[in-house]
Amino acid sequence: RPIPATLIPGDGIGPEITEAVVSILDALGTPFEWDRQVGGMAAIKEGGDPLPSSLIDSIRRTKLALKGPLTTPVSGGFRSVNVRLREEFGLYANLRPAKTMMPGGRYDDIDIVLVRENLEGLYVGFEHYIAVGDDPQAVAISSGINTRSEARRIIRFAFEYALRHGRKKVTIVHKANVLKALTGLFLEAGREIAREYEGRVQMDERIVDACAMQLVLNPWQFDVIVTTNLFGDILSDLIAGLIGGLGMAPGANIGESAAIFEAVHGSAPDIAGQGVANPLAMLLAAALMLDHISLGDQANRLRAAVLRTLRDNVRTRDLGGAASTKDFASAIVARLGDQ
Ligand code: NAI
Ligand code: MG
Repeated sequence: RPIPATLIPGDGIGPEITEAVVSILDALGTPFEWDRQVGGMAAIKEGGDPLPSSLIDSIRRTKLALKGPLTTPVSGGFRSVNVRLREEFGLYANLRPAKTMMPGGRYDDIDIVLVRENLEGLYVGFEHYIAVGDDPQAVAISSGINTRSEARRIIRFAFEYALRHGRKKVTIVHKANVLKALTGLFLEAGREIAREYEGRVQMDERIVDACAMQLVLNPWQFDVIVTTNLFGDILSDLIAGLIGGLGMAPGANIGESAAIFEAVHGSAPDIAGQGVANPLAMLLAAALMLDHISLGDQANRLRAAVLRTLRDNVRTRDLGGAASTKDFASAIVARLGDQ
């Protein structure tokens, strides 16, 4: 049965990696029926809005999207297209799994899933300046917002994810010793939700700064981590670093009525158009998308083929190899059948 899904190739290396990913998904036999949509810089050139209504309408219809990196111009007063998409579709959960795929790096056998609250906290944009004397921006003020209902929802999402994926422990990361209201509320919600899962999923709590150190010293103690928006933004990049960087880090933005899957990296303008970009992050995002629609078998076949390709030392430049985007994709396709 065909499954309609929105495809946004995006800017910079986006079209190159999208082409590679779609060729691999076709070879795998995925049921996606792509509705291609333009966003970001490409859309600004066509009609002025980096997030055109046709793109929004498409996701509203398909409820499922695979998205390449979108460039938000620094000037021109555009708000981040990624933040707008999260708000538009209430994508409250940002899922960032990190699993070692290339043994022999600084850390082997990493397998951590970070769940980041995606809509609230210090990223709500409640910021302003206060003038003092002749300096109009002498003082900067920012307010964070966390609601109990959202904290409960994201923490429950993390525990449910742990249950569904056979994971043992959820670590709640906070800074309740200093940000007593803002993140104290989150920790409290965590303790409350954890009780519902007693005996099924273990609960653990860490203060964010200590957690950052422990992730570097002994990352193997972590399983699923759930945290607020800003802490999650920072820790998820740290965790991506443990497995070799952004080139292989996928992300999912999940809401109750839609989900958008993407590579964590940007449009890499420095290598765009050269045919050397690594399509892995977007490909692994597609695997998360298959997991999400209960096609876990296909997702696992895809991940196994990626593992074999890397082990056979077929790698793109950023991973120390010499394969082009196309050659890398063909090498993965050639290994889809192996068991
Ligand atoms: P970036 O992630 O695009 O690039 C950082 C470095 O990593 C560059 O040297 C780049 O060549 C390399 N790199 C990234 N992805 C790669 C890949 N798949 N294969 C090989 N090398 C790769 O970050 P940067 O330069 O800060 O941002 C560039 C543009 O991307 C900006 O306009 C930014 O707004 C946008 N961006 C979009 C995101 C999204 O749509 N989710 C996320 C982050 C940035
Ligand atoms: Mg980030």
